[in-house]
Amino acid sequence: MALKGKSILLGVSGGIAAYKSAELVRLFTKAGATVQVVMTANARQFITPLTLQVLSGQPVCTNLFDLEFESQIGHIQVARAAHLAVLAPATANLIAKLAAGIADDYLTTVLLATTAPVLVCPAMNTKMYENLATQKNLETLRTYGHHIVEPSEGTLACKEEGTGRLAELPEILEVAGRILTPATLKGKQVLVSSGPTWERFDPVRFISNPSSGKMGYAIAQVAARRSAKVHLVSGPVSIPAPRGTTLHRVTSAMEMHDLITRLAPQMDVIVMAAAVSDYRPAQMLPQKAKKVGSDLTITLQNNPDILAQLGRSKPQAKQQILVGFAAETENLIENATSKLKAKNLDFIVANNLTQSGSGFGCDTNQVRIIDRSGDSTELPCLLKEEVAERIWDRIERLFQ
Ligand code: PMT
Repeated sequence: MALKGKSILLGVSGGIAAYKSAELVRLFTKAGATVQVVMTANARQFITPLTLQVLSGQPVCTNLFDLEFESQIGHIQVARAAHLAVLAPATANLIAKLAAGIADDYLTTVLLATTAPVLVCPAMNTKMYENLATQKNLETLRTYGHHIVEPSEGTLACKEEGTGRLAELPEILEVAGRILTPATLKGKQVLVSSGPTWERFDPVRFISNPSSGKMGYAIAQVAARRSAKVHLVSGPVSIPAPRGTTLHRVTSAMEMHDLITRLAPQMDVIVMAAAVSDYRPAQMLPQKAKKVGSDLTITLQNNPDILAQLGRSKPQAKQQILVGFAAETENLIENATSKLKAKNLDFIVANNLTQSGSGFGCDTNQVRIIDRSGDSTELPCLLKEEVAERIWDRIERLFQ
């Protein structure tokens, strides 16, 4: 979404990780960006221009003195058209040239001519990366305002262990999206809850629900992309925390309650997407319950309603926006509206669980946003990331 309609200049230099640029082109184009690949001569030893040309659907720039392409001063047009230049992989040699302002081939010339932000993704042998010259050059690039996605650790192509592997491609995409997203939430502290809670009745068994965390994590991710300071309070899920968020792991509704009520007074926005269990077993058995042949009865007791409590204790000194979700299987609008009022929310995201492609576990969601003025807007079935963008657009309007 952040990359949709954007023009990415992908600079590929000559390291073994150059083969990964093919997948990077595919991911950028899948995200809706146009990719203009510029390759160094050494990069062509590792991957052919034809591969990247087919994947990007654009002619690949390699030769500064190409009579046909350069008849219109093509390299300057390429430099002007870019919204963002991504250098992946960026070798020690390319980084050094960039730091020194050298323009001796197509890629370095375009980089000197572009005013687009530059995202450098180093990949090289550990010793080369740790070399003082490379580190000084990277420091120089930071002073130019260039962004750097640090390489990761692991076994490198040269069989050495250490730092130098090209960062994971989804991470490069996320940082690119963040650079291209206006910082509309800068200075805001936000809390997003996500995932299920586990309510244990013995050391190995619990009552829960199928929340995967995808909806809440997307909300946290979009907020971080818009430069908010994000606290993500998450029940047990198996997806990684979005880059740039502070993850607080909790297990039960009581733990979630204690953490959220402690953090809440400092927050400008709280979005409760978590599927908090309304009940917990009244008793937690110290040992695994034995199968005795007869039925087992578990008495459940109420959990606190975290959101209702937040609605009752909104800070007086600051504007705090409170957003809830309503997961419903019937009477969507009526039930969501009564939760909106009972919990004193600014708006509620009514989630129809009976619709296919909506609710627990899937990548998409179909919701209706209902606010306290009575405005009720149904959104089409969208990716959870797109739903998150609509939610934040709405929150930003409330701040205005
Ligand atoms: O995680 P995914 O697989 O992506 O699924 C997304 C989702 C279906 C979990 C999400 O879209 C959603 O609907 N979340 C809210 C689920 C829920 O608990 O709804 P509810 O109608 O029971 O609760 C209403 C609101 O009160 C919610 O904001 C909930 O977080 C909050 N609540 C509920 C109970 C409780 N004890 N404390 C609360 O704060």
